[in-house]
Amino acid sequence: MHLPDLKQARIRTNYKPLIKEYRLEEKYKNIGNNKKYFIRTYGCQMNEHDSENIKAMMESLGYILTDILEEANVVILNTCAIRENVHNKVFGYLGRIKHLRETKDDIITCVCGCMAQEENVANEIKNKYKWVDIVFGTHNLDKLPEFLYGAINEKIQQIEVYSIEGDIVECIPAKRDSKYKAWINIMYGCDKFCTYCIVPYTRGKQRSREKESILKEVNDLLSNGYKEVTLLGQNVNAYGKDLYDDYDMCNLLEDVAKTNIERIRFVTSHPWDFTDKMIEIIAKYPNIMPYIHLPLQSGSNRILKLMGRRYTKEDYLTLFHKLKSNIPNVSITTDIIVGFPNETDEDFNDTLDIVNECKYDSAFTFIFSPRVGTPASRMEDNVSKEAKEKRLYLLNNLVNEYALMNNKKYVNRVVPVLIEGNSEKGDSLFGYTDTMKLVNVTGDCKIGNIVDIKITDAKTWSLDGTIVDKNSI
Ligand code: 5AD
Ligand code: SF4
Repeated sequence: MHLPDLKQARIRTNYKPLIKEYRLEEKYKNIGNNKKYFIRTYGCQMNEHDSENIKAMMESLGYILTDILEEANVVILNTCAIRENVHNKVFGYLGRIKHLRETKDDIITCVCGCMAQEENVANEIKNKYKWVDIVFGTHNLDKLPEFLYGAINEKIQQIEVYSIEGDIVECIPAKRDSKYKAWINIMYGCDKFCTYCIVPYTRGKQRSREKESILKEVNDLLSNGYKEVTLLGQNVNAYGKDLYDDYDMCNLLEDVAKTNIERIRFVTSHPWDFTDKMIEIIAKYPNIMPYIHLPLQSGSNRILKLMGRRYTKEDYLTLFHKLKSNIPNVSITTDIIVGFPNETDEDFNDTLDIVNECKYDSAFTFIFSPRVGTPASRMEDNVSKEAKEKRLYLLNNLVNEYALMNNKKYVNRVVPVLIEGNSEKGDSLFGYTDTMKLVNVTGDCKIGNIVDIKITDAKTWSLDGTIVDKNSI
Protein backbone atom coordinates (compact mmCIF):
# COMPACT_ATOMS: atom_id res chain seq x y z
CA MET A 1 0.00 0.00 0.00
CA HIS A 2 1.27 3.45 -0.87
CA LEU A 3 -0.76 6.54 0.01
CA PRO A 4 -0.41 10.02 -1.53
CA ASP A 5 1.31 12.75 0.44
CA LEU A 6 0.49 16.38 -0.29
CA LYS A 7 3.70 17.71 1.24
CA GLN A 8 5.75 15.51 -1.02
CA ALA A 9 3.61 16.46 -4.03
CA ARG A 10 4.59 20.10 -3.52
CA ILE A 11 8.32 19.43 -3.79
CA ARG A 12 10.24 20.22 -6.96
CA THR A 13 13.87 19.09 -7.24
CA ASN A 14 16.36 18.64 -10.07
CA TYR A 15 15.17 15.07 -10.52
CA LYS A 16 15.42 14.11 -14.17
CA PRO A 17 12.40 11.98 -15.12
CA LEU A 18 13.18 8.49 -16.30
CA ILE A 19 11.78 7.42 -19.65
CA LYS A 20 10.34 3.95 -19.34
CA GLU A 21 8.70 1.77 -21.93
CA TYR A 22 5.36 0.04 -21.35
CA ARG A 23 5.48 -3.72 -21.75
CA LEU A 24 2.68 -6.16 -21.00
CA GLU A 25 3.91 -9.20 -19.10
CA GLU A 26 2.86 -12.51 -20.55
CA LYS A 27 1.15 -13.65 -17.32
CA TYR A 28 -1.35 -10.77 -17.46
CA LYS A 29 -2.64 -11.54 -20.95
CA ASN A 30 -6.13 -13.06 -20.92
CA ILE A 31 -6.85 -12.37 -17.25
CA GLY A 32 -9.96 -10.62 -18.60
CA ASN A 33 -11.15 -13.77 -20.32
CA ASN A 34 -13.95 -11.94 -22.18
CA LYS A 35 -15.35 -10.44 -19.00
CA LYS A 36 -16.73 -6.91 -19.23
CA TYR A 37 -15.41 -3.58 -18.02
CA PHE A 38 -17.16 -0.25 -17.59
CA ILE A 39 -15.31 3.05 -17.45
CA ARG A 40 -16.48 6.50 -16.47
CA THR A 41 -14.26 9.49 -17.15
CA TYR A 42 -14.46 12.88 -15.46
CA GLY A 43 -12.53 16.04 -16.25
CA CYS A 44 -10.20 17.36 -18.92
CA GLN A 45 -8.87 16.08 -22.24
CA MET A 46 -5.82 14.71 -20.46
CA ASN A 47 -8.11 12.41 -18.49
CA GLU A 48 -10.05 11.50 -21.65
CA HIS A 49 -6.77 10.46 -23.21
CA ASP A 50 -5.72 8.52 -20.09
CA SER A 51 -9.00 6.63 -20.43
CA GLU A 52 -8.12 5.81 -24.04
CA ASN A 53 -4.92 4.25 -22.64
CA ILE A 54 -6.87 2.41 -19.95
CA LYS A 55 -9.30 1.01 -22.53
CA ALA A 56 -6.48 -0.30 -24.71
CA MET A 57 -4.76 -1.91 -21.72
CA MET A 58 -8.03 -3.52 -20.57
CA GLU A 59 -8.67 -4.92 -24.04
CA SER A 60 -5.14 -6.28 -24.26
CA LEU A 61 -5.98 -8.25 -21.10
CA GLY A 62 -9.05 -9.75 -22.78
CA TYR A 63 -11.74 -7.49 -21.28
CA ILE A 64 -14.65 -6.21 -23.38
CA LEU A 65 -16.06 -2.68 -23.00
CA THR A 66 -19.66 -2.30 -21.84
CA ASP A 67 -21.61 0.89 -21.30
CA ILE A 68 -24.02 -0.83 -18.93
CA LEU A 69 -22.77 -0.62 -15.35
CA GLU A 70 -24.83 -3.63 -14.21
CA GLU A 71 -23.08 -5.88 -16.74
CA ALA A 72 -19.54 -5.03 -15.69
CA ASN A 73 -17.04 -7.24 -13.90
CA VAL A 74 -14.59 -4.36 -13.60
CA VAL A 75 -15.75 -0.78 -12.96
CA ILE A 76 -13.20 1.99 -13.42
CA LEU A 77 -13.79 5.58 -12.31
CA ASN A 78 -11.16 7.88 -13.82
CA THR A 79 -11.58 10.97 -11.68
CA CYS A 80 -10.89 14.71 -11.72
CA ALA A 81 -9.87 16.83 -8.72
CA ILE A 82 -10.08 20.31 -10.16
CA ARG A 83 -13.36 21.25 -8.48
CA GLU A 84 -15.47 19.83 -5.66
CA ASN A 85 -18.43 18.84 -7.88
CA VAL A 86 -16.72 15.76 -9.34
CA HIS A 87 -15.75 14.64 -5.84
CA ASN A 88 -19.43 14.43 -4.93
CA LYS A 89 -20.34 12.69 -8.18
CA VAL A 90 -17.63 10.04 -7.75
CA PHE A 91 -18.65 9.23 -4.18
CA GLY A 92 -22.28 9.13 -5.36
CA TYR A 93 -21.24 6.64 -8.03
CA LEU A 94 -19.41 4.52 -5.48
CA GLY A 95 -22.73 4.34 -3.62
CA ARG A 96 -24.35 2.91 -6.75
CA ILE A 97 -21.60 0.35 -7.17
CA LYS A 98 -21.85 -0.68 -3.50
CA HIS A 99 -25.55 -1.28 -4.00
CA LEU A 100 -24.86 -3.36 -7.10
CA ARG A 101 -22.34 -5.46 -5.18
CA GLU A 102 -25.09 -6.62 -2.86
CA THR A 103 -26.51 -8.78 -5.64
CA LYS A 104 -23.41 -9.34 -7.76
CA ASP A 105 -20.17 -10.30 -6.06
CA ASP A 106 -18.03 -10.58 -9.18
CA ILE A 107 -17.14 -6.88 -9.47
CA ILE A 108 -13.72 -5.30 -9.17
CA THR A 109 -13.94 -1.57 -8.40
CA CYS A 110 -11.14 0.71 -9.38
CA VAL A 111 -10.69 4.45 -8.62
CA CYS A 112 -7.93 6.25 -10.50
CA GLY A 113 -6.97 9.68 -11.85
CA CYS A 114 -6.48 13.00 -10.07
CA MET A 115 -8.82 12.43 -7.11
CA ALA A 116 -6.85 9.32 -6.19
CA GLN A 117 -3.81 11.61 -5.85
CA GLU A 118 -5.57 13.60 -3.11
CA GLU A 119 -4.50 12.58 0.37
CA ASN A 120 -7.98 13.08 1.87
CA VAL A 121 -9.67 11.02 -0.87
CA ALA A 122 -7.24 8.09 -0.71
CA ASN A 123 -7.60 8.04 3.09
CA GLU A 124 -11.38 8.18 2.89
CA ILE A 125 -11.43 5.19 0.53
CA LYS A 126 -8.96 3.31 2.74
CA ASN A 127 -11.01 3.89 5.87
CA LYS A 128 -14.62 3.98 4.70
CA TYR A 129 -14.71 2.19 1.35
CA LYS A 130 -12.70 -0.91 2.15
CA TRP A 131 -14.56 -2.81 -0.58
CA VAL A 132 -12.99 -0.65 -3.32
CA ASP A 133 -10.40 -3.03 -4.76
CA ILE A 134 -7.88 -0.77 -6.52
CA VAL A 135 -6.82 2.86 -6.16
CA PHE A 136 -4.02 4.15 -8.34
CA GLY A 137 -2.93 7.62 -9.37
CA THR A 138 -1.80 9.49 -12.45
CA HIS A 139 1.86 8.47 -12.10
CA ASN A 140 1.36 4.72 -12.43
CA LEU A 141 -1.48 4.28 -14.90
CA ASP A 142 0.69 1.81 -16.80
CA LYS A 143 0.57 -0.59 -13.82
CA LEU A 144 -3.16 -1.30 -14.24
CA PRO A 145 -2.61 -4.90 -15.49
CA GLU A 146 -0.50 -5.66 -12.41
CA PHE A 147 -3.12 -4.19 -10.04
CA LEU A 148 -5.92 -6.17 -11.66
CA TYR A 149 -3.90 -9.35 -11.47
CA GLY A 150 -3.37 -8.62 -7.77
CA ALA A 151 -7.07 -7.90 -7.18
CA ILE A 152 -8.09 -11.17 -8.84
CA ASN A 153 -5.54 -13.30 -7.03
CA GLU A 154 -5.07 -11.68 -3.64
CA LYS A 155 -8.44 -10.05 -2.96
CA ILE A 156 -7.01 -7.32 -0.72
CA GLN A 157 -7.45 -3.58 -1.21
CA GLN A 158 -4.56 -2.17 -3.22
CA ILE A 159 -3.85 1.54 -2.88
CA GLU A 160 -0.83 2.52 -4.93
CA VAL A 161 -0.61 6.29 -5.28
CA TYR A 162 2.72 8.09 -5.56
CA SER A 163 3.29 11.79 -4.99
CA ILE A 164 6.76 11.76 -6.51
CA GLU A 165 7.64 14.22 -9.23
CA GLY A 166 6.94 11.55 -11.86
CA ASP A 167 8.52 9.78 -14.80
CA ILE A 168 7.42 9.31 -18.41
CA VAL A 169 6.08 6.02 -19.71
CA GLU A 170 6.17 5.68 -23.48
CA CYS A 171 4.30 3.22 -25.70
CA ILE A 172 1.19 2.72 -23.55
CA PRO A 173 -1.36 1.56 -26.13
CA ALA A 174 -4.41 3.78 -26.82
CA LYS A 175 -7.89 2.85 -28.00
CA ARG A 176 -8.77 6.20 -29.49
CA ASP A 177 -12.37 7.42 -29.42
CA SER A 178 -12.08 8.87 -32.93
CA LYS A 179 -10.58 7.58 -36.17
CA TYR A 180 -9.94 11.10 -37.41
CA LYS A 181 -8.72 13.21 -34.53
CA ALA A 182 -6.33 12.26 -31.77
CA TRP A 183 -4.98 13.60 -28.51
CA ILE A 184 -1.21 13.56 -28.07
CA ASN A 185 0.38 14.25 -24.71
CA ILE A 186 3.41 16.43 -25.25
CA MET A 187 4.08 17.04 -21.59
CA TYR A 188 2.86 16.00 -18.18
CA GLY A 189 2.44 17.93 -14.94
CA CYS A 190 2.72 21.61 -14.19
CA ASP A 191 5.10 23.81 -12.20
CA LYS A 192 3.08 27.03 -12.28
CA PHE A 193 1.38 26.50 -8.91
CA CYS A 194 -1.48 28.96 -9.43
CA THR A 195 -2.76 29.30 -5.88
CA TYR A 196 -6.22 27.79 -6.50
CA CYS A 197 -5.08 24.83 -8.59
CA ILE A 198 -4.58 21.22 -7.51
CA VAL A 199 -2.99 20.07 -10.79
CA PRO A 200 0.69 20.61 -9.81
CA TYR A 201 0.00 18.27 -6.85
CA THR A 202 -2.02 15.63 -8.70
CA ARG A 203 -0.05 15.53 -11.94
CA GLY A 204 3.42 16.27 -10.62
CA LYS A 205 6.41 18.13 -11.98
CA GLN A 206 6.38 19.45 -15.51
CA ARG A 207 8.02 16.91 -17.76
CA SER A 208 8.14 17.12 -21.53
CA ARG A 209 8.15 14.11 -23.80
CA GLU A 210 11.06 13.80 -26.19
CA LYS A 211 10.37 15.47 -29.51
CA GLU A 212 11.22 12.28 -31.45
CA SER A 213 8.52 10.30 -29.61
CA ILE A 214 5.92 13.01 -30.26
CA LEU A 215 6.78 13.30 -33.94
CA LYS A 216 6.72 9.53 -34.35
CA GLU A 217 3.23 9.47 -32.82
CA VAL A 218 2.06 12.20 -35.22
CA ASN A 219 3.52 10.36 -38.21
CA ASP A 220 1.96 7.06 -37.14
CA LEU A 221 -1.43 8.74 -36.80
CA LEU A 222 -0.99 10.39 -40.19
CA SER A 223 -0.28 7.07 -41.86
CA ASN A 224 -3.38 5.63 -40.16
CA GLY A 225 -5.56 8.28 -41.80
CA TYR A 226 -5.86 10.75 -38.92
CA LYS A 227 -6.67 14.33 -39.96
CA GLU A 228 -6.24 16.19 -36.71
CA VAL A 229 -3.99 16.10 -33.66
CA THR A 230 -4.37 18.07 -30.46
CA LEU A 231 -1.13 18.53 -28.54
CA LEU A 232 -1.97 18.22 -24.87
CA GLY A 233 -0.45 19.60 -21.71
CA GLN A 234 -1.44 21.71 -18.72
CA ASN A 235 0.71 24.49 -20.05
CA VAL A 236 1.89 23.51 -23.53
CA ASN A 237 3.65 26.79 -24.21
CA ALA A 238 6.29 25.78 -21.68
CA TYR A 239 7.01 22.61 -23.68
CA GLY A 240 10.68 21.66 -23.75
CA LYS A 241 11.88 24.05 -21.05
CA ASP A 242 12.59 21.17 -18.69
CA LEU A 243 14.26 19.05 -21.35
CA TYR A 244 16.11 21.06 -23.97
CA ASP A 245 18.22 24.25 -24.13
CA ASP A 246 17.43 24.93 -27.75
CA TYR A 247 14.10 23.33 -28.58
CA ASP A 248 10.77 24.75 -27.43
CA MET A 249 7.07 24.85 -28.31
CA CYS A 250 7.80 26.96 -31.42
CA ASN A 251 10.16 24.30 -32.74
CA LEU A 252 7.75 21.51 -31.90
CA LEU A 253 4.79 23.27 -33.54
CA GLU A 254 6.86 23.88 -36.64
CA ASP A 255 8.06 20.26 -36.81
CA VAL A 256 4.52 18.94 -36.33
CA ALA A 257 3.27 21.35 -39.03
CA LYS A 258 5.92 20.01 -41.41
CA THR A 259 4.55 16.46 -41.09
CA ASN A 260 1.65 17.89 -43.16
CA ILE A 261 -1.04 16.47 -40.92
CA GLU A 262 -4.08 18.50 -41.91
CA ARG A 263 -5.04 20.03 -38.57
CA ILE A 264 -3.01 20.84 -35.48
CA ARG A 265 -4.43 22.18 -32.25
CA PHE A 266 -2.88 22.62 -28.82
CA VAL A 267 -4.27 23.11 -25.30
CA THR A 268 -3.80 24.72 -22.83
CA SER A 269 -1.79 27.91 -23.20
CA HIS A 270 -0.73 29.91 -20.17
CA PRO A 271 -0.39 33.58 -21.22
CA TRP A 272 2.98 33.77 -19.43
CA ASP A 273 4.82 31.53 -21.90
CA PHE A 274 3.20 32.76 -25.13
CA THR A 275 6.04 34.19 -27.22
CA ASP A 276 5.96 36.39 -30.34
CA LYS A 277 7.77 33.63 -32.19
CA MET A 278 4.93 31.24 -31.37
CA ILE A 279 2.40 33.67 -32.80
CA GLU A 280 4.52 33.93 -35.93
CA ILE A 281 4.62 30.13 -36.34
CA ILE A 282 0.85 29.77 -35.83
CA ALA A 283 0.24 32.44 -38.47
CA LYS A 284 2.75 30.94 -40.88
CA TYR A 285 1.45 27.36 -41.13
CA PRO A 286 -2.06 26.84 -42.52
CA ASN A 287 -2.33 23.47 -40.78
CA ILE A 288 -1.94 25.06 -37.34
CA MET A 289 -5.56 25.95 -36.55
CA PRO A 290 -6.49 29.55 -35.79
CA TYR A 291 -7.93 28.68 -32.42
CA ILE A 292 -6.43 29.53 -29.05
CA HIS A 293 -7.66 28.75 -25.57
CA LEU A 294 -6.17 31.48 -23.40
CA PRO A 295 -7.32 31.30 -19.77
CA LEU A 296 -7.86 34.72 -18.20
CA GLN A 297 -9.11 33.54 -14.75
CA SER A 298 -9.76 37.10 -13.56
CA GLY A 299 -9.70 40.63 -14.96
CA SER A 300 -8.60 42.19 -11.69
CA ASN A 301 -4.89 42.73 -11.11
CA ARG A 302 -5.38 42.34 -7.38
CA ILE A 303 -7.05 38.94 -7.81
CA LEU A 304 -4.60 37.82 -10.51
CA LYS A 305 -1.84 38.47 -7.99
CA LEU A 306 -3.62 36.49 -5.28
CA MET A 307 -4.10 33.71 -7.82
CA GLY A 308 -0.36 33.70 -8.58
CA ARG A 309 -1.00 34.03 -12.30
CA ARG A 310 2.18 36.03 -13.06
CA TYR A 311 0.57 38.51 -15.46
CA THR A 312 -1.49 41.66 -15.20
CA LYS A 313 -4.67 42.40 -17.12
CA GLU A 314 -2.60 44.79 -19.24
CA ASP A 315 -0.13 41.99 -20.16
CA TYR A 316 -3.06 39.74 -21.01
CA LEU A 317 -4.72 42.34 -23.23
CA THR A 318 -1.48 43.09 -25.07
CA LEU A 319 -1.09 39.39 -25.85
CA PHE A 320 -4.76 39.04 -26.78
CA HIS A 321 -4.60 41.90 -29.30
CA LYS A 322 -1.32 40.62 -30.74
CA LEU A 323 -2.97 37.26 -31.37
CA LYS A 324 -6.01 38.91 -32.96
CA SER A 325 -3.99 41.14 -35.25
CA ASN A 326 -1.40 38.58 -36.34
CA ILE A 327 -3.43 35.41 -36.81
CA PRO A 328 -6.13 35.92 -39.45
CA ASN A 329 -9.62 34.88 -38.36
CA VAL A 330 -8.39 33.54 -35.01
CA SER A 331 -10.99 32.49 -32.46
CA ILE A 332 -10.09 32.80 -28.80
CA THR A 333 -11.77 31.15 -25.82
CA THR A 334 -11.01 31.44 -22.14
CA ASP A 335 -11.49 30.16 -18.58
CA ILE A 336 -12.73 32.46 -15.81
CA ILE A 337 -13.15 31.85 -12.08
CA VAL A 338 -15.58 33.96 -10.05
CA GLY A 339 -15.78 34.26 -6.29
CA PHE A 340 -12.07 33.83 -5.57
CA PRO A 341 -11.34 34.79 -1.92
CA ASN A 342 -11.50 38.57 -1.44
CA GLU A 343 -13.06 39.22 -4.88
CA THR A 344 -15.14 42.39 -4.58
CA ASP A 345 -17.83 43.68 -6.93
CA GLU A 346 -15.20 46.03 -8.29
CA ASP A 347 -12.81 43.13 -9.05
CA PHE A 348 -15.65 41.26 -10.71
CA ASN A 349 -16.50 44.35 -12.81
CA ASP A 350 -12.87 44.38 -13.98
CA THR A 351 -13.44 40.83 -15.24
CA LEU A 352 -16.60 41.92 -17.08
CA ASP A 353 -14.61 44.80 -18.61
CA ILE A 354 -12.09 42.36 -20.07
CA VAL A 355 -14.88 40.16 -21.42
CA ASN A 356 -16.41 43.27 -23.03
CA GLU A 357 -13.07 44.13 -24.59
CA CYS A 358 -12.09 40.61 -25.73
CA LYS A 359 -15.57 39.49 -26.83
CA TYR A 360 -14.52 35.84 -26.52
CA ASP A 361 -15.81 33.21 -28.90
CA SER A 362 -16.67 31.23 -25.82
CA ALA A 363 -15.67 30.83 -22.18
CA PHE A 364 -15.68 28.16 -19.49
CA THR A 365 -16.77 29.82 -16.28
CA PHE A 366 -16.44 28.47 -12.76
CA ILE A 367 -17.19 29.35 -9.17
CA PHE A 368 -14.02 29.12 -7.07
CA SER A 369 -13.76 25.73 -5.39
CA PRO A 370 -11.25 25.46 -2.52
CA ARG A 371 -8.97 22.46 -3.01
CA VAL A 372 -7.33 20.95 0.06
CA GLY A 373 -3.58 21.64 0.16
CA THR A 374 -3.59 24.65 -2.19
CA PRO A 375 -2.68 28.13 -0.86
CA ALA A 376 -6.09 29.54 -1.89
CA SER A 377 -7.87 26.96 0.27
CA ARG A 378 -6.18 28.55 3.28
CA MET A 379 -7.44 32.04 2.33
CA GLU A 380 -10.70 33.07 3.95
CA ASP A 381 -13.50 32.10 1.55
CA ASN A 382 -15.29 35.39 2.23
CA VAL A 383 -17.51 35.85 -0.84
CA SER A 384 -21.09 34.80 -0.12
CA LYS A 385 -22.70 31.95 -2.03
CA GLU A 386 -25.31 34.40 -3.36
CA ALA A 387 -22.64 36.80 -4.64
CA LYS A 388 -20.77 33.95 -6.34
CA GLU A 389 -23.92 32.69 -8.03
CA LYS A 390 -24.98 36.16 -9.12
CA ARG A 391 -21.55 36.85 -10.59
CA LEU A 392 -21.54 33.56 -12.46
CA TYR A 393 -25.00 34.33 -13.83
CA LEU A 394 -24.04 37.82 -15.00
CA LEU A 395 -20.80 36.56 -16.50
CA ASN A 396 -22.48 33.71 -18.35
CA ASN A 397 -25.06 36.08 -19.83
CA LEU A 398 -22.32 38.32 -21.15
CA VAL A 399 -20.21 35.45 -22.44
CA ASN A 400 -23.23 33.98 -24.25
CA GLU A 401 -24.05 37.31 -25.85
CA TYR A 402 -20.58 37.51 -27.41
CA ALA A 403 -20.58 33.84 -28.37
CA LEU A 404 -23.77 34.38 -30.36
CA MET A 405 -22.49 37.65 -31.84
CA ASN A 406 -19.30 35.92 -33.04
CA ASN A 407 -21.20 32.93 -34.40
CA LYS A 408 -23.56 35.20 -36.36
CA LYS A 409 -20.57 36.52 -38.31
CA TYR A 410 -20.28 33.06 -39.87
CA VAL A 411 -23.71 33.11 -41.51
CA ASN A 412 -23.41 32.88 -45.33
CA ARG A 413 -19.69 32.18 -45.10
CA VAL A 414 -18.19 28.96 -46.47
CA VAL A 415 -15.87 27.29 -43.97
CA PRO A 416 -13.91 24.02 -43.79
CA VAL A 417 -15.39 21.47 -41.39
CA LEU A 418 -13.91 18.13 -40.36
CA ILE A 419 -16.99 15.88 -40.42
CA GLU A 420 -16.79 13.66 -37.35
CA GLY A 421 -20.03 11.69 -37.30
CA ASN A 422 -23.80 11.63 -37.18
CA SER A 423 -25.58 13.92 -34.77
CA GLU A 424 -27.27 12.35 -31.76
CA LYS A 425 -30.70 12.60 -33.35
CA GLY A 426 -29.25 10.96 -36.46
CA ASP A 427 -30.80 13.48 -38.86
CA SER A 428 -27.60 15.40 -39.61
CA LEU A 429 -23.82 15.25 -39.46
CA PHE A 430 -21.59 17.24 -37.16
CA GLY A 431 -18.04 18.50 -37.18
CA TYR A 432 -15.80 21.40 -36.22
CA THR A 433 -14.48 24.39 -38.14
CA ASP A 434 -10.79 25.27 -38.08
CA THR A 435 -11.77 27.83 -35.43
CA MET A 436 -13.35 25.08 -33.26
CA LYS A 437 -16.99 25.95 -33.88
CA LEU A 438 -19.39 23.03 -33.71
CA VAL A 439 -21.42 22.77 -36.94
CA ASN A 440 -24.53 20.66 -37.53
CA VAL A 441 -24.44 19.80 -41.20
CA THR A 442 -27.27 18.79 -43.51
CA GLY A 443 -26.45 16.84 -46.64
CA ASP A 444 -24.51 13.71 -47.21
CA CYS A 445 -20.76 13.22 -47.27
CA LYS A 446 -18.06 10.90 -46.05
CA ILE A 447 -17.33 11.02 -42.33
CA GLY A 448 -13.68 11.88 -41.71
CA ASN A 449 -13.37 14.36 -44.58
CA ILE A 450 -12.72 18.08 -44.33
CA VAL A 451 -15.57 19.57 -46.32
CA ASP A 452 -16.58 23.10 -47.34
CA ILE A 453 -19.77 24.02 -45.52
CA LYS A 454 -21.98 27.03 -46.09
CA ILE A 455 -23.19 28.34 -42.75
CA THR A 456 -26.94 28.97 -42.77
CA ASP A 457 -27.73 29.77 -39.14
CA ALA A 458 -25.97 30.64 -35.89
CA LYS A 459 -26.83 29.71 -32.32
CA THR A 460 -24.96 30.44 -29.09
CA TRP A 461 -23.18 27.09 -28.94
CA SER A 462 -23.26 25.90 -32.55
CA LEU A 463 -23.73 26.70 -36.22
CA ASP A 464 -25.94 25.09 -38.85
CA GLY A 465 -24.67 24.54 -42.36
CA THR A 466 -25.00 22.70 -45.66
CA ILE A 467 -22.47 21.02 -47.89
CA VAL A 468 -21.22 22.99 -50.89
CA ASP A 469 -18.26 20.91 -52.01
CA LYS A 470 -19.84 18.44 -54.43
CA ASN A 471 -16.53 16.57 -54.97
CA SER A 472 -16.52 15.23 -51.47
CA ILE A 473 -20.05 13.80 -51.63
N1 5AD B 1 -11.87 26.40 -8.53
C1 5AD B 1 -12.56 26.78 -9.64
N2 5AD B 1 -12.07 26.66 -10.88
C2 5AD B 1 -10.84 26.11 -11.02
N3 5AD B 1 -10.08 25.87 -12.11
C3 5AD B 1 -8.91 25.31 -11.71
N4 5AD B 1 -8.90 25.19 -10.37
C4 5AD B 1 -10.08 25.69 -9.91
C5 5AD B 1 -10.65 25.85 -8.63
N5 5AD B 1 -9.99 25.49 -7.53
C6 5AD B 1 -10.50 26.21 -13.46
C7 5AD B 1 -9.53 27.21 -14.09
C8 5AD B 1 -8.78 26.36 -15.07
C9 5AD B 1 -9.84 25.36 -15.49
C10 5AD B 1 -9.33 24.12 -16.12
O1 5AD B 1 -10.49 25.06 -14.27
O2 5AD B 1 -10.26 28.21 -14.75
O3 5AD B 1 -8.28 27.08 -16.17
FE1 SF4 C 1 -3.27 24.82 -12.72
FE2 SF4 C 1 -2.08 27.17 -13.22
FE3 SF4 C 1 -0.86 24.82 -13.91
FE4 SF4 C 1 -3.04 25.68 -15.25
S1 SF4 C 1 -1.04 26.74 -15.16
S2 SF4 C 1 -2.64 23.58 -14.48
S3 SF4 C 1 -4.26 26.67 -13.65
S4 SF4 C 1 -1.33 25.55 -11.83
